[in-house]
Amino acid sequence: MKISSFDDTFLLSDGNKIPCIGFGTFGLDNNKKGESLIKNAISCGYRHFDTASLYGSEEILGKALKASGVARDEFFLTTKVWKDDMAPGDIRKSFDRSLHALGTDYLDLLLIHWPRANEADEEWEEHLFLAWNTFIFLKQEGKVKSIGVSNFLPQHFDVIHSCSEKPVVNQIEFHPGYMQTGTVDYCQRHNIQVEAWSPLGRGSLLNHPVVADIAAKHKVSPAQVLLSFCLAHNVLPLVKSSSKERLKENLSLFDFKLTEQDLYVLRGIAEKTGWSGQHPDLSIPKAKVGDF
Ligand code: A2P
Repeated sequence: MKISSFDDTFLLSDGNKIPCIGFGTFGLDNNKKGESLIKNAISCGYRHFDTASLYGSEEILGKALKASGVARDEFFLTTKVWKDDMAPGDIRKSFDRSLHALGTDYLDLLLIHWPRANEADEEWEEHLFLAWNTFIFLKQEGKVKSIGVSNFLPQHFDVIHSCSEKPVVNQIEFHPGYMQTGTVDYCQRHNIQVEAWSPLGRGSLLNHPVVADIAAKHKVSPAQVLLSFCLAHNVLPLVKSSSKERLKENLSLFDFKLTEQDLYVLRGIAEKTGWSGQHPDLSIPKAKVGDF
């Protein structure tokens, strides 16, 4: 699908549509300041919001949505179930807590946040299979419109391959320094929409000379180059910023077009530049929990 304005959507394989740029709420202060940032995002035009039970931002997001006066069905809301809550009963409890915090009675998209609890979990395949089937039940019950996953690699999709519904989204780290080509190819071949978390490499790619040169050539900002890079690969960027100006800037991606040569040069940035260090099959260092 051709994306040419921030109002455009990607079509998911279940027939639902998802706005082409999302606002990521990881790292927001769970207080008035965080809430007012989300209000700024709504006033800039953002309608697609991404949160997770892990982030601690569901409640301020719920408050900001309510205060906006914008109808619920104009928003696209995603949340995630954390890996410690993968047992079927725990998924349902986590889901109910999320609905309550967000002040809504349905979700547009629910994601499994992480494919396995830790590398020592030898029964992770069985746990994942049961978890995904619980997601399918939640969808069949009408509580969530679309279901998907996050931080999945092809071997994780193999585990749920025989289930009656396939994930429609995979949210992964994606930027020129960590393109995860094998996973993105797998998803695009199977009609799974890829979403990018940390599309700016947590800001670390903004000063990269290759990015800066291309930005200067097009008279746009490095952030606009990196977000446009996602869309050029049919990857949906989840952006975040604490400044209203930068929030607006991050929606203005459609007055310029990266050339094939630009994309080629950006893809040449050394692998793991700006990488978070997170790998789905490895335990997450405690200090890093939540950094995605
Ligand atoms: P700030 O909140 O000061 O705007 P990522 O999405 O890859 O995790 O990157 C997030 C970081 O990128 C934040 O530190 C944010 O800082 C910064 N950022 C977001 N948008 C822009 C922008 N348009 N220009 C410069 N920095 C940006």
